[in-house]
Amino acid sequence: MTEVVASAPGKIILTGEHFVVHGACAIAAAVDRRVKVTFSSVSGQPFIQSGRIRSALTDKDGKFLLVKAILREVQSRNKARDSFAVKISSDIPAGSGLGSSAAVAVATSAAALKFNGLEATDSKIQELAMIGEKQVHGNPSGIDVESSMRGGLILFSRASGAKSVPLDKALNFLIVYSGKTRKTSALISRVSLKKEMFPHFFSSLARSASFLSLEFLDALTCGDLPRIGALMNISQATLDWIGVSTPSMDKLIENLASQDVFGVKLTGAGGGGSVIALPKPGSNKALSKYVRRNFQWSFFTSLPQEGLRWENSNQNS
Ligand code: PMV
Repeated sequence: MTEVVASAPGKIILTGEHFVVHGACAIAAAVDRRVKVTFSSVSGQPFIQSGRIRSALTDKDGKFLLVKAILREVQSRNKARDSFAVKISSDIPAGSGLGSSAAVAVATSAAALKFNGLEATDSKIQELAMIGEKQVHGNPSGIDVESSMRGGLILFSRASGAKSVPLDKALNFLIVYSGKTRKTSALISRVSLKKEMFPHFFSSLARSASFLSLEFLDALTCGDLPRIGALMNISQATLDWIGVSTPSMDKLIENLASQDVFGVKLTGAGGGGSVIALPKPGSNKALSKYVRRNFQWSFFTSLPQEGLRWENSNQNS
């Protein structure tokens, strides 16, 4: 049996989410939660499966829209295999602001290309993954896909693309999922309305988001954790102003800020989703006890983490 397996990580955005859609610089990092996609040859109709959810490629049931868009694109370019199964396993909750759709898009694109005997270069995988992302997010900046592909930390803007940022010393972040899913596309539209309402003010905020990202980069290079935390707090205040925080996220952030952390902010599109905090050295144990008591789903991640990777594949037919 032919089997191709690829996995890709989720991500957190450290600075510049939303403003990056409008041209600002942002910083993102891959986390150690991954999505694994397996393509295997089976007889009969092709299907896609994740846990108990299953859908035939031809079903117009609204399931796996991103994966179907990628598969349609591969089939339109080449004579693709016509009997196969796509199995997705993920340890990133969908709609949690942790880049699960980009991780699915990257791992699916990589495995689909290789499974069909096509060239799976980084640029081909990325181009295909963006087709999938656009299917679900409308106008994504591309930062999620870049972050999941490359792993590590990246500085990203639409004009300059992604630049990997080396880290001298590993960084440790706490990630807490609020439990509320949301749609990135709806939040991007909400922010665009704010931009239409206050064009000049919004463009000055986008410029300051870029400055904040560069300042963050400098603090990272110096290993200045208190400065990184302070910049996270400033970033949160701006995200709150553009309307992507919510009263329950504000409460979650306030609770976490009362613990031993340097800074806290929402990450990704907001409107629910997840919050990240930078713990003070030596505080992991107490924090871990606190979050386990108060929140359903949280984890610590060290940075940097690996990007796209091929898992054990078997192409022997
Ligand atoms: O979809 P999320 O929550 O992982 O965040 C995407 C980040 C945004 O800046 C809101 C959108 C984008 O494409 O850059």
